[in-house]
Amino acid sequence: DKYCVIMAGGIGSRFWPLSTQKFPKQFQDILGTGRTMIQQTYDRISKSIPSENIFVITNKEYVALSHQQLPEIPEQNIVGEPLMKNTAACNLYMANKIAEINPNATMIVLPADHLILKEDVFLEKVELAFSLASSQDYLVTLGITPTRPDTGYGYIQFVEKKNSEYYKVKTFTEKPILEIAKSFLESGDFLWNAGIFIWNVNSIHKAFETFLPDMTQQFTACEYNAEAEISCIELIYPKIQKISIDNGILEKAKNVYVIPADLGWSDLGTWTSVFENSERDENENAINIKTALTYDSTGNIVHVKNTKAVVIDGLKDFIVVDTDKVLLICPREHDQQIKDYVLDLKSLK
Ligand code: GDD
Ligand code: MG
Repeated sequence: DKYCVIMAGGIGSRFWPLSTQKFPKQFQDILGTGRTMIQQTYDRISKSIPSENIFVITNKEYVALSHQQLPEIPEQNIVGEPLMKNTAACNLYMANKIAEINPNATMIVLPADHLILKEDVFLEKVELAFSLASSQDYLVTLGITPTRPDTGYGYIQFVEKKNSEYYKVKTFTEKPILEIAKSFLESGDFLWNAGIFIWNVNSIHKAFETFLPDMTQQFTACEYNAEAEISCIELIYPKIQKISIDNGILEKAKNVYVIPADLGWSDLGTWTSVFENSERDENENAINIKTALTYDSTGNIVHVKNTKAVVIDGLKDFIVVDTDKVLLICPREHDQQIKDYVLDLKSLK
């Protein structure tokens, strides 16, 4: 049987100040489509997997918000973590939980905050991934053709095989520095990791035993889908290593396979990616309100309350975001640094 886990515990700090700890971006309708990012993620996968097999793993702070936004998902499938431990822990937790329900389950893991324009291609590649991962000991990921040396992604080098719809992964490099990202892009044989994974519960469990044995051991202390699960998880979480599934497992495993997929994909992780996916005026400004005047200004992204009017003059390639609590003005090319502003501001208070 097919299962799905939507990971929704991040705080989207590169997307501050719109995304905040109280109200992270996956619970917002960033592009103004009428559905939030997590709702769109659910809508997409529910065409392939029944709601009772779809799970959400998020911080316990966002469990109520998840229920509210996804009433179709059974209550017990929305799971709260006591602490943010990055994505390795939540993957192992959910693999254990799902294995308890179905010891031979194959699952897809989805980030809650991605834009996918070509839903039919997505569903087709997901089918292929499920057929690979349910019959072999493969850890499958979807790969996107890179368009810029972005340092916010994982890079996948694959072994070319003629007339194949999938490849064996040779190297997996999570978030390389700019120089390395540039050389990957130039070489032409790399794909971006889309952050979408498909594996059988036994395959991923084996990988955790090999590469994160301590974490695996800590999680075996708990009984899953039982009354004591929550209190046991509360107890083990403070001691769990904080590491991503990419650094912890995918960079190291030898049985990773990639399916190249032209999904119209974007990780709406930064203001630049929102800029690229928003409607823009004739001067390439993306402004979220109608009452705006621009003079001699190009390439800006402006996000303000819809009760305001905006006038910009002589501004080029900037991010301007105005919320109740914060006014942010910075060059678009600094968008990876925004998470540092959040930290610095905290130390100021
Ligand atoms: N439950 C839970 N707990 N979810 C989490 C946690 C956590 O501690 N940390 C992050 N998440 C969720 C986020 O909400 C997001 O939906 C997803 O897990 C991925 O986390 P990100 O923090 O957004 O990862 P990333 O964008 O830096 O990198 C990943 O995605 C890229 C593509 O968007 C990696 O997989 C990269 O290799 C990949 O290229
Ligand atoms: Mg992300």
